Amino acid sequence: MIDYSKYITTPAIPEASSMIETFRAIGYSIEAAVADIVDNSISAGAKKIWINFELKGSATWLSVKDDGTGMDNEELIQAMRPGSKNPLEDRGSKDLGRFGLGLKTASFSQCRKLTVISKKEDETSVFWTWDLDFVNQTGKWDLIKYMPEGGFENDIKDIKSGTIVIWNDIDRLVKDFKIDDDKEKDKFLSIMLLVKKHMAMVFHRFIENGKIKIFFQDRPVEAWNPFLTNETATQCFPEEPLCNGKVVVKGFVLPHKSKISEDKYKEAEGSKGWNGQQGFYIYRNDRMLLAGDWLGMYRKEEHYKLARIEINLPNSLDSEWQIDIKKSIARPPFILKDQLKAYAGKVRAQAVEVYRHRGKNVKPYPGQKFVPLWIDHKRGDKWFYKINRDHPLIEEIKQSAAEKPEKAIETLLRFIEETIPVKSIYIKESEEPEAQGKPFEGSQHDEIQTKMKILFDLLIKQGKTKAEAKLFIINHEPFNLYPEYLETLIENNGTI
Ligand SMILES: Nc1ncnc2c1ncn2[C@@H]1O[C@H](COP(=O)(O)OP(=O)(O)O)[C@@H](O)[C@H]1O
Ligand SMILES: [Mg+2]
Repeated sequence: MIDYSKYITTPAIPEASSMIETFRAIGYSIEAAVADIVDNSISAGAKKIWINFELKGSATWLSVKDDGTGMDNEELIQAMRPGSKNPLEDRGSKDLGRFGLGLKTASFSQCRKLTVISKKEDETSVFWTWDLDFVNQTGKWDLIKYMPEGGFENDIKDIKSGTIVIWNDIDRLVKDFKIDDDKEKDKFLSIMLLVKKHMAMVFHRFIENGKIKIFFQDRPVEAWNPFLTNETATQCFPEEPLCNGKVVVKGFVLPHKSKISEDKYKEAEGSKGWNGQQGFYIYRNDRMLLAGDWLGMYRKEEHYKLARIEINLPNSLDSEWQIDIKKSIARPPFILKDQLKAYAGKVRAQAVEVYRHRGKNVKPYPGQKFVPLWIDHKRGDKWFYKINRDHPLIEEIKQSAAEKPEKAIETLLRFIEETIPVKSIYIKESEEPEAQGKPFEGSQHDEIQTKMKILFDLLIKQGKTKAEAKLFIINHEPFNLYPEYLETLIENNGTI
């Protein structure tokens, strides 16, 4: 331990303007910022939370009101202090906070004036405002007793206890905003819609189990559950406890598009779309932190889009999972990666099956063998697709070819065209690019050479010159891939 008394000291107080910009640069999105304010309401035991805004040009404001326990004057001042709690402190198991920063950093990321009004039961309300312009001007971290317009003093009277957080000067969103500009208005409203959807998603468990009600411009927000647990076609995997049961994972394969209503399918695509929403969903104390992310284990691919896996964490594992200030990043500890990958592998494999077969049953009925029309197989290290010669359909076509060869060929071609295993080909291509074989690659080329020669002879017979015949051949698939065999083409009389 250093004996500090032996040393000379000098104050080096953080410079207000640069600290402000540091706070503002944390990079919250507006929806993550609002969610952080709502976290505080939930931690304070709120049952109802109202998110409101008023579009008034540069005087636009947004507020989050709750009926939680509220704060008295001392508690409010403490709450307004940046870093009001030590992140290393143990938190109540239901607390959604961590760094003692959220209220301030989330707010400053969006606005320059943050007012908090709060009231404890049977006490009078108190309020304080952080005004970054004032801090900037004075260089002092002093709160001011400023109440913005909007009738908030009356608003707080409606509740027994609770808190209203108000953002004014929302410069990151509405700088130089013109009230009568419809385009800007639409943009603002679409951002607000995004905020609403984000609330519906990150707090869906609280809304579903009736613990809280969130109102957005006085309308209740309905929960958005990413796992479609109410749909019968959703496949649930058994829960798997990891880390001595502290972490629990549970996988879902969502229904194929053909198995749910169009509306449900559209709704389930979420804000990132079906492809973007695949992956892990991390919950910390039932609050969703991460929505659809393979945590660096896999890329997002179309054919895995039906796989969604929840990971449930307690807040006691924050440091192991590297939960960030914005509560929008989490990284699994190294030792868990393999276990998560093994679990995800099973869910993903099933998701591909549902995607590929449109949710149809491809398992044979008992006592029967499933007979595919196409078979994938490897030649060397390349993939090829083969028509199953033992399929009864092929046998039937062969027989009918004796009587009506043209019709039989046409039927065969139709079946090939209609059943090309596009999805399997696509999946192989995205997983192992370059692994699909070219025509006749890795096999004897006798067939291609023989066919080239037959065509060549035919063309010569039709009166084409050798050069014309070769030009014709090289412009026809798949002969274009084998220009070297052109050299071997000789007329029957032996001239090249
Ligand atoms: N809506 C609220 N109701 C009651 N107390 C609140 C509310 N918002 C914030 N607080 C208090 O302010 C503190 C600081 O909040 P915050 O800056 O978000 O950090 P954290 O949530 O990590 O503690 C909280 O721990 C809580 O005590
Ligand atoms: Mg907080």
